[in-house]
Amino acid sequence: MRRFALSNLRDYGMGKKASEEKIIEEIQYLIKVFESHEDQVQAELSRVVGSRQVRAEDRMSLPFTDAVIHETQRFANILPISLPHITSTDGTPVIPLLTSVLWDESEWEKPNTFHPAHFLDKDGKFVKRDAFMPFSAGRRACLGESLARMELFLFFTSFLQRFRFTPPPGVKEEDLDLSPALGFTLQPTSHELCAISRQ
Ligand code: HEM
Repeated sequence: MRRFALSNLRDYGMGKKASEEKIIEEIQYLIKVFESHEDQVQAELSRVVGSRQVRAEDRMSLPFTDAVIHETQRFANILPISLPHITSTDGTPVIPLLTSVLWDESEWEKPNTFHPAHFLDKDGKFVKRDAFMPFSAGRRACLGESLARMELFLFFTSFLQRFRFTPPPGVKEEDLDLSPALGFTLQPTSHELCAISRQ
């Protein structure tokens, strides 16, 4: 398992010197992209929800926000290798690599870019994508999916409705290191942020 996981991680570039430059380049790009998406999410939230508490049922009326959340889950890929399973018929071990679908070049228009339009049609309506499976698939898929999705939606919208997020004074956005902590999961590292009230 360990050798298999390591060789896969190496295939993704882990441990190679060149990956540092690539990650830094990606960070600069993401900061710009996130800034513009933050503005668009806030505009949609103000227009559709205003200042009242966001409810789960608002999701249908917030396609852009929904697309940003889906794209964040796709792109963040927080559980690259799903849990291992064994088939009941002949005991074959199966280790799904969720990265292989979440970043599949034949499924996504821009697999390696944060691109919320992956989940929007030409009229700006939300579209489901078969290759969106951060919770895995089948009978043993994540049991907490609906809870996790509701939490992501309500936290994300409630925070963005009230605050604009910036780095602390003296820190430039390009100084933020957005590369994940590498482990069995890809976790965000901790950062100090300022939440500036929008009211
Ligand atoms: C964004 C958050 C989450 C992600 C991306 C996630 C993802 C996953 C994945 C990929 C699996 C493996 C599925 C498989 O074996 O094929 C899993 C299993 C599981 N998850 Fe989650 N999960 C999340 C949150 C949660 C939460 C909040 C709960 C509980 C309240 C939860 C409970 C479980 C349980 C119980 C399993 C094992 C299911 C089984 O083996 O039958 N998860 N999760």
